[in-house]
Amino acid sequence: MAPMIVTSALPYSNDRLHLGHLRSTYLPPDVFVRYMRRKGEDVIFICATDEHGTPIALRAEKEHVHPKEITDRYYPLIKGDLERMGCSFDYFSRTTEGIHYEMTQHFFKTLLERGYIYEHEIDLLRCPKCDKYLPDRYVEGVCPFCGYEGARGDSCDSCGRYLRITELKDAKCAICGTMPEPSKTKHWFFKLTAFEGSLKEWLGSNTKIPENVKKYALQWINEGLRDWDITRDMTWGVQLPVEGGEGKVVYVWFDAPIGYISSTKAYFMSRGDQEGWRRYWQGDGRIVHFIGKDIIYHHAIFWPAMLMGTGEFNIPETIIAGEYLTLEGKKMSKSRGWYISIENYLKAFDADPMRYYLISVAPLDRDADFSVNDFVKRYNDELADVLGNFVHRTLTFIERFFGSTIPEAKLEEKDERMLHMIKNTVAETAMHIEAKHFRDALLSVMNLAREGNKYLNDSAPWAAIKSSPERAAATLYTSAQIVKAIGSMISPFLPSTSKKIWKMLGLCSEIEQLPWGEASFPLPCGHKIGEPSPLFKKIASQDVQKIRETLIPHKDVGERVPIDEFKKAKIGIGEIVTAERIRGSRDLLHLEIDLGEFGVRSCVAGIAKYYSPDEMLHKKVAVLMNVQPTTLFGFKSEVMILAADGDEKVALLIPDRAVPSGSEVR
Ligand code: 2FM
Ligand code: ZN
Repeated sequence: MAPMIVTSALPYSNDRLHLGHLRSTYLPPDVFVRYMRRKGEDVIFICATDEHGTPIALRAEKEHVHPKEITDRYYPLIKGDLERMGCSFDYFSRTTEGIHYEMTQHFFKTLLERGYIYEHEIDLLRCPKCDKYLPDRYVEGVCPFCGYEGARGDSCDSCGRYLRITELKDAKCAICGTMPEPSKTKHWFFKLTAFEGSLKEWLGSNTKIPENVKKYALQWINEGLRDWDITRDMTWGVQLPVEGGEGKVVYVWFDAPIGYISSTKAYFMSRGDQEGWRRYWQGDGRIVHFIGKDIIYHHAIFWPAMLMGTGEFNIPETIIAGEYLTLEGKKMSKSRGWYISIENYLKAFDADPMRYYLISVAPLDRDADFSVNDFVKRYNDELADVLGNFVHRTLTFIERFFGSTIPEAKLEEKDERMLHMIKNTVAETAMHIEAKHFRDALLSVMNLAREGNKYLNDSAPWAAIKSSPERAAATLYTSAQIVKAIGSMISPFLPSTSKKIWKMLGLCSEIEQLPWGEASFPLPCGHKIGEPSPLFKKIASQDVQKIRETLIPHKDVGERVPIDEFKKAKIGIGEIVTAERIRGSRDLLHLEIDLGEFGVRSCVAGIAKYYSPDEMLHKKVAVLMNVQPTTLFGFKSEVMILAADGDEKVALLIPDRAVPSGSEVR
């Protein structure tokens, strides 16, 4: 088949990656490429760090260092995390390589010469306090399309739309919070509108691009494209190769995808081959991009248009966009500490169990959830009980009953049926991987292991070895063939498990060098196997809490209080009988609280921003009754009401059943 380049979206080099990234962007192409290599295809797997743009410039500004210092710090960490997860890139480059600057400038000049880039004066935002233009993420505000409050100057993370900075409502400078002012500057625009027809035709006729990508992209095209501002007033980035471009760089989303090409070139140059990269990007080269669903616009609209505009390169054969991964049912968020980094995961486990989980949890085009309990359950039930157990039982029986030698076998129908199933599974798995249905592919391998277990149980070689040794021999011969097929087919998914199985089977070939179809070639009778050992050690339920703490970062609760100290605090339930605003204060309410036998007490509470006096009246709430009294705004405060502080939201603690005022909380 024609040469193929497979890419993963280039991660920004200002942060380490987490499970969400792995699931959408890095593991699926790795499975695909590992399979394609075994099919003998001319395939390369390329990635790089995306080192320009405001995410990095902003971070550098906040840390008072040069942006390159940030990217130098993160490049090895990101690359290392991905490699330790088994991502088998042929080359992992950086967009700060000289080759990348040249390629980006080549794109810019070519598109300019071909009339697809033009100059235009526009209003942009300047921060009067920071005294500079505010590109992209330097501005935060409200999305004009969907109303999302955390939108940035260049895109909305909620509805996925590309935004012009001046469209953002309630804009604020991300550094100092000042409201920016419009100011005129000259920018360069890419004539995206010229590609409406060709993009539509390409998306309409391409049968490989999955529906989720097509649907969004066509919807955006139908809403009407607009020419695209591809320059920025900042110094960190690729300089414009034109006169009058001083003090400006190309927009990071213009240079980043060019990184796919420049990294391919860097790869071949590193091997002393100046022109090899062209095979993948020109002629009959096929381009396959794996991305997260938040960057469909950039890959299905901007990038193909740029490629078309140069007239020099092929356009993608397909773009696979992985949907989101939630953690315990909630959206992951780095800022709120709700995520699992690759770094933390690898403190507790090897790569393979997570590769298994993330690929099998849901099809790539559906949202999926990671939960620690589910992970542990599937690890124990599927990896340990189904896969590990089948391999281990088969090999230990062969060791014990046949001196570690694959026995001669007189096959019966039920054995033949299993051998036949191997052949079917090899074909079926291949078909699913080629259709990029990685979950289905993995399930079909696991199904073979499940059927293998059943077959082994039904045939009971441990009993047959006495009553009918020939039957035991046939069963274990057949089971060994299943183990071998699984060991081989599992290699794109669980590469190190596959190697372990191979070694236990006493095979010294490099599994990755073997053709895919070899999975169904039988082990010959008389072959000596290696030493069996368990593949996955089961996780005990008492260890789950420790695993959770390693995986999900959590805040320390601070100093511990001896229980006797805590008991000194007298908390009771009281009914609010009067409530009024305190004049001169925006935050405070004055309350009188009926605490039953403890009397009616006066309280000053800092909740006026969250509750009106009317809302407070007659509520029964938890009250600290023996706090040291104080006086605020002339009002005595003898008790303190308890409330939960939930990120901009405050909620009173209210008993969930009626109890008399004065009931104590213990
Ligand atoms: O969204 C991101 O994390 C970008 N750094 C992805 C870039 S992909 C490609 F275009 F380079
Ligand atoms: Zn939006």
